[in-house]
Amino acid sequence: MKTVLITGTTSGIGKAFAEKFAYEGYNLILAARNEQKLKQQQAALQETYHVAVKYIAQDLTQENAAGLIMADIDKWKATIDVLVNNAGFNECGFFTDTSLDRELEMINMHIRFVTELTKRILVHMKENGYGRILNVGSTGSFIPSPTDAVYSATKAYIMSFSNALCGELSKTGIKITTLCPGATKTEFAAKANIQNTLLFKIAVMNPEKVVGIAYRKMMKGRRLVIPGIYNKLLVAFSKVMPISLTNRITVFMIR
Ligand SMILES: NC(=O)c1ccc[n+]([C@@H]2O[C@H](COP(=O)([O-])OP(=O)(O)OC[C@H]3O[C@@H](n4cnc5c(N)ncnc54)[C@H](OP(=O)(O)O)[C@@H]3O)[C@@H](O)[C@H]2O)c1
Repeated sequence: MKTVLITGTTSGIGKAFAEKFAYEGYNLILAARNEQKLKQQQAALQETYHVAVKYIAQDLTQENAAGLIMADIDKWKATIDVLVNNAGFNECGFFTDTSLDRELEMINMHIRFVTELTKRILVHMKENGYGRILNVGSTGSFIPSPTDAVYSATKAYIMSFSNALCGELSKTGIKITTLCPGATKTEFAAKANIQNTLLFKIAVMNPEKVVGIAYRKMMKGRRLVIPGIYNKLLVAFSKVMPISLTNRITVFMIR
C-alpha cells in the first residue's frame, strides 16, 4: 500500500486531496495546525476508507517544521510515495498596508518549508526509484498581482522550482506537478478577506473538482495542471497581454 504525505488537510483543497487519496486506497500522513480537526479527520477517513491515517499537528511557518515532520516519518519508518505540498494562505492588500510578519510567515511556508521538505523527501524517492510530488501554486504563479504581491511571488517561486526539478528528474520514476488553481470555494478567501471580490464571484471551482483533475494528471506525470477553462484562458491571456494591462485587470478583480 502506498503512502501520501499531504500538508494543509483540515480544510479546502487539502481536505479534498485527503479524501481522494484515501478513496484510492493510500495510507495517509496529514499535516496542519489544528490538532482537533486532524484527529476528527483521522477517525473519519480510517472508518470510511479502511486506510491507516497518521497526523502531525505542526505550524509549517516555523523554521524547524520540515525537520520535525521528517523526525515523525523516520520514527514511523514510513516510506513516502507521494508528497502534496498544499498548505498555504494569503495576505492581501497594498504592500505598504499589509502585515510584514504574515508575509514573512508566508515566505517561510510557501518557499522555505516547501523547498526543505521536497529536498528531504526527494532523497528517499530517488533511492526508491519512484515518487510523485504535487506542489500547489496558483494562477498567480503566472501573474504578478498588485495587492497580492508577496503571495503571487511565492507562487511563482513554487512553479519555477517545480519546473526546474522536472528537468532534473526527467529520466527517473519521479514526477513533479505544479497545480495552479484559480478561485476555489474554500476557507482561503474569507481568511484573506477577499471573499467579496470579483475574483471570488466568477468561475469559482469546487475543491473536489480541482482535486479530481489534479489527481488524474499528477498520476500521469503531467508537469502543470491548470484546472478549469476559465483559469486556462486567464493564464493564456496573461502570457500575451502587456504587464501594465494585466496589472490593471488584477487590481479590478481583487478590489
Ligand atoms: N482557494 C483558492 O482560491 C486558491 C487559489 C489558488 C491557490 N490556492 C492554494 O491552495 C492551497 C490550499 O488552500 P485552500 O484554498 O484549500 O485554503 P484553506 O481552506 O484556507 O486551507 C488551508 C490549509 O492550510 C493549512 N495551513 C494554513 N496555515 C498553516 C500553517 N501555518 N501551518 C500548517 N498548516 C497551515 C490549514 O490548516 P490549519 O489552519 O489547521 O493549520 C488548512 O488545512 C494553498 O496553497 C493556496 O495558496 C487556493
